[in-house]
Amino acid sequence: MTDQEQKTEQLKTARTETEDVILKRRSVRIYQRKQVPAFMIKRILEAGRFAPSAGNGRPWKFIVVREPEILDGISQTVIQICKGYKSLIDYRYNGNNVRRMLANLIIKSKPNDLHPVPFSAITLIADGRLQLFHDAPTVIFIFQDVRGIGFPALDCGMAAQNMVIAAHSMGLGTCYIGFSKPAFENSKIWTKRLGIDYPYKFVTSLAIGYPVGKPDGMVARPTHAVDWYEDGKKETIY
Ligand SMILES: Cc1cc2nc3c(=O)[nH]c(=O)nc-3n(C[C@H](O)[C@H](O)[C@H](O)COP(=O)(O)O)c2cc1C
Repeated sequence: MTDQEQKTEQLKTARTETEDVILKRRSVRIYQRKQVPAFMIKRILEAGRFAPSAGNGRPWKFIVVREPEILDGISQTVIQICKGYKSLIDYRYNGNNVRRMLANLIIKSKPNDLHPVPFSAITLIADGRLQLFHDAPTVIFIFQDVRGIGFPALDCGMAAQNMVIAAHSMGLGTCYIGFSKPAFENSKIWTKRLGIDYPYKFVTSLAIGYPVGKPDGMVARPTHAVDWYEDGKKETIY
């Protein structure tokens, strides 16, 4: 039996370590106060750097922040912006038609950011009931070079997920923090402070730290229909 055949045989009954990390990863929202050693964060950045990218363009910029004052400052900016959103577009308890129309217009202008699902989190952040970075000691901010080939944000997403998988393989916890976006898009304070300028644009951020407890583990996930074409037939698998 060749090595390849042997490996294929083993795969019939066992998952690889990489698959295990991918399938068991969960977003971590409670972190230990302990900082992550710098060398581990550098290894995580390296995993990001090794991600594929269109034309090998690597259209990303990573900024590591381990200063609580900066993370707190970004959180405060986001809280203020979420308060603004909440007062403008949360018409749930108000029958005022003009307000409702204005809210609909604002929501239509930002259909992804003001989607109903994140809207409840926007309300929680505005009310100070949800910590933006979940008190994680390290946050990596990811910016795309908007001049990149194809879809630079996709390349950044792949770099981000490489970093997430690397971090979990080291026993760390991570959580994507898309909600830091308004601090970089609705305000100039933090782009200036962190030296972000054209051609860089915020994509997402990653909270990283030692988890409290063992949050990683498999959970049920919804299945999506996949069309499979083979031997002249189309099959739909789940
Ligand atoms: C691009 C992106 C942005 C996200 N932003 C946030 C965020 O701002 N805050 C948060 O707590 N979770 C955030 N999440 C985590 C998702 O809520 C989480 O991945 C999803 O609920 C599935 O749970 P799981 O990661 O444990 O599998 C984000 C995830 C992604 C992929």
